[in-house]
Amino acid sequence: MSDYDLVIAGGTVVTAADSYGADIGIRGGRIAAIAEGLRGAERIDATGLLVLPGGIDAHVHLDQPTSDGTVMADDFASGTRSAAAGGNTTVLPFAMQIKGQSLRACVEDYHRKAQGACHTDVSFHLVITDPTPQVLGQELPALVRDGYTSFKVFMTYDDLVLNDAELLDVFEVARRERALVMVHAEGHDAIKHLTRRLEDQGRTAPYYHGQAHAQIAEREATHRAISHAQLIDVPIVIVHVSGRDPMEQIQWARARGMKVHAETCPQYIALTAEDLRGLNMDFDGAKYVCSPPPRDADSQAAIWQGLRDGTFDIFSSDHCPFRFEGPGSKDNPRARTSFKWVPNGIPGVETRLPILFSEGVSKGRISLQRFVALTSTNPARLYGLYPQKGSIAIGADADLTLWNPTLTRTIRQADLNHGCDYTPYEGMPITGWPVRTLLAGRTIAADGRPVGTPQGGHLSRLTSEAYS
Ligand code: URP
Ligand code: ZN
Ligand code: ZN
Ligand code: ZN
Repeated sequence: MSDYDLVIAGGTVVTAADSYGADIGIRGGRIAAIAEGLRGAERIDATGLLVLPGGIDAHVHLDQPTSDGTVMADDFASGTRSAAAGGNTTVLPFAMQIKGQSLRACVEDYHRKAQGACHTDVSFHLVITDPTPQVLGQELPALVRDGYTSFKVFMTYDDLVLNDAELLDVFEVARRERALVMVHAEGHDAIKHLTRRLEDQGRTAPYYHGQAHAQIAEREATHRAISHAQLIDVPIVIVHVSGRDPMEQIQWARARGMKVHAETCPQYIALTAEDLRGLNMDFDGAKYVCSPPPRDADSQAAIWQGLRDGTFDIFSSDHCPFRFEGPGSKDNPRARTSFKWVPNGIPGVETRLPILFSEGVSKGRISLQRFVALTSTNPARLYGLYPQKGSIAIGADADLTLWNPTLTRTIRQADLNHGCDYTPYEGMPITGWPVRTLLAGRTIAADGRPVGTPQGGHLSRLTSEAYS
């Protein structure tokens, strides 16, 4: 009899703290040994490869209904296949409440969509769009106790926005139940004002989305969210931070001891507002419409500094895929009349890790340890999955990504596994790519393609370490 079901042999194990040569022995889906010279029933030769804790993408949108007839390009099957091929073993999608809907019914809806379809593990964040007394008083506390320990609120979008009174109410429940609130911080009225002015001037191309969603509006809302969190004394995460101005607000709060955490995403290091011009100020720019929008070279430099110095805890994709062409896509008659109707969101769950590795580790901007912290360990800690997930340690789930640090590739839509018909990163050269992804010791992707049947489950989560 072998000691282990599987041994990953000869690789370089990388955690948020260390890197060292060792074999990993896996038994019953968990890491049972980290040592030299292990023997198992099966063996994977990892010579020349890095062995990383599986990627955890803490910000992913899958199969969310929209109010305008557009359709998300990924359901739980295709979205998690794409995630697995990109080196991820867990994704955290949103269960988004529709106004008037019970939160419990919403969560059950998403469980039905995900049931039996997931190639990675998943766990839902809740999105609160209708904070009624019933939702705040009963449903939300019960759901937090059931392991849905984080929720997102929006400070913009007509059908999602909460006003300040509602934000404060949600923050209060979060504090009482020790849940973590993710804040989409963009000032709604400022965006609406800028949108009207641009439309008055006939500036309706997708490019002007970037001007309507000005960084000043993001900075203002970030500061407002921080102030509300300070009033309630609750930790928050500012998600998808796009540039220098909102970062300064986060640093201001941190310097005063506030528990303000921050996330950024690939689009803020790999794209700029110029991409929204498309081919010649045309509709092609819609491929890059997301909120907040990509900014400029100065903001990219600030984001890199923040990734290095700990301003950012986590690096997520904000994968929110809409096809560019065809029924339900970004290109619809209304969107052609104004940028304000272009569905917001871009795909990126499969390219998140390669982009940060290539631009960050391979180019010497961040260390390997920081890469692991930003993409796996910190998301696990912040969202209540640690120590089951997010590191390579005895007893942890054997969720591992074998990474070839010298493999060069070019990002091509034809090679990706998502349901989208384009990638905003087409043609980007990459050094470092995941070559095998294992969930609980089972291979779920190899050489850029998903493998096997859906084995992922839904994870109930602990209280965020933001409370410790
Ligand atoms: O444009 C974006 N980011 N769409 C996804 C929804 C959100 O705000 O995260
Ligand atoms: Zn958002
Ligand atoms: Zn933090
Ligand atoms: Zn998002």
